Amino acid sequence: MIDVGAGGMAIYVPQLYLEHRELAEARGVPPNKYLLGLGNRRMSIIPIWEDSVTMAANAAAQLLEQTGTHPEEIHQLVVSTESGVDHSKPVASFVQGLLGIGSRCRIYEIKHACYGGTAGIVNSIDWIYRNYTTSRKALVITTDIARYGFESAGEPTQGAGAVALLLTVKPRLFSVDTSLNGIFSKDVFDFWRPTGHRVPLVDGKFSIDCYLMALEESVAHFRANLGIHKGKLIESLDYFVYHMPFTQMAHKAHRHLVNLEHPDLSEADREKLCTETFRVKVEPGLLGAREVGNIYTGSVYMGLVSLLETEREKCEGKRVGVFSYGSGCGAEFFLCHLKKGLAGPIQGLRFQEQMARRRKVSVEEYVEIYSKNRREIRYHPRDVLPYKDPFTRFVFTGFRDHKRQYA
Ligand code: HMG
Repeated sequence: MIDVGAGGMAIYVPQLYLEHRELAEARGVPPNKYLLGLGNRRMSIIPIWEDSVTMAANAAAQLLEQTGTHPEEIHQLVVSTESGVDHSKPVASFVQGLLGIGSRCRIYEIKHACYGGTAGIVNSIDWIYRNYTTSRKALVITTDIARYGFESAGEPTQGAGAVALLLTVKPRLFSVDTSLNGIFSKDVFDFWRPTGHRVPLVDGKFSIDCYLMALEESVAHFRANLGIHKGKLIESLDYFVYHMPFTQMAHKAHRHLVNLEHPDLSEADREKLCTETFRVKVEPGLLGAREVGNIYTGSVYMGLVSLLETEREKCEGKRVGVFSYGSGCGAEFFLCHLKKGLAGPIQGLRFQEQMARRRKVSVEEYVEIYSKNRREIRYHPRDVLPYKDPFTRFVFTGFRDHKRQYA
């Protein structure tokens, strides 16, 4: 059987964070609305010396090192983002330059809200499948800055980060058979950012309805592809990782799935099943959403990283149901089959170590940083070089002749 999937994964989170408790106090909201109602504790704040390019390159540099991959081995480089830095030049081109990826490589950027990462991964897996005999490798990077307006309902669901995946034949981490994927898409306005807008327009409650509808439809397609009867899906998968704009969204998704799968059970029995399966099959993937926030395209893949770091070798050989959702909307439910012998790839993730090196900012500092217009930033590279650390290898140093500069 042809075996294609991820040979490795790496995550990058920026150097600053904000506590939800402090944001709630500043906004005059009971802290438990954010801490329990949304289920978030901290969110990543991106400083002016980082952007979607540096986050992507910082995640990918770790990944290449961790997997011993030479940049010339990459024949397809895809960056999925809704935080692009240019209307024409793709983030992937900047990343190619920073990482020294060769010219015999197809590179492009994908946009479809938070679903873009999955589009890149699925297409790259299919491309590798077609080139199976040549053992080609693809690098897919999700990178995003989730920004909402100050004092808006979405403000406590912000975040920033990048996840990079190395896709290959005979993968060490997990394989995916894309022919089984459950797919759903529909033209809706639940969350969108018209050209020129710094922050999105959101129909918050409707976006949750769209998400749940997409889950229902893509699971139905997946179940049919796999030939699993209704009522058997939850027991046949070991873990579930849902797209998580905020942690409690995973709870809403899982409850919806339990209700759909078991309409014949009493409400009390469904609640019991939901609580039990959530603790064992969903909870291990929540770390990133709780501590970093929404990272749009990378959110569901940060959930996978969280699962791997939390469960470690316990999840070897297990089957993970992954639900990817992007507003607009597009969705896919697919099966990640984790490999045996995961100690090495898990060791390389260093997610918690990376979060521990972040610096807390006050609400005032966060407002000041997010009020700045990056186009007005004029500073000399030496001012930002001290911000480099073992995870932040690339920094944004401003503009020269309208060209973004990095060091
Ligand atoms: P809101 O309307 O301010 O919040 O914003 P709420 O009033 O619905 O409260 C949230 C929860 O806190 C509720 O729980 C409250 O009961 C609870 P629920 O009823 O939902 O279970 N609560 C409390 N709990 C404990 N103690 C308290 C307390 N007070 C209230 N004192 C909303 C919520 C999600 C709408 C807002 O944050 C928002 O607009 N977020 C952005 C949109 C979003 O994340 N949508 C999710 C689905 S769409 C998606 O995932 C795509 C996306 O990632 C974008 C992309 O694809 O690119 C966003």
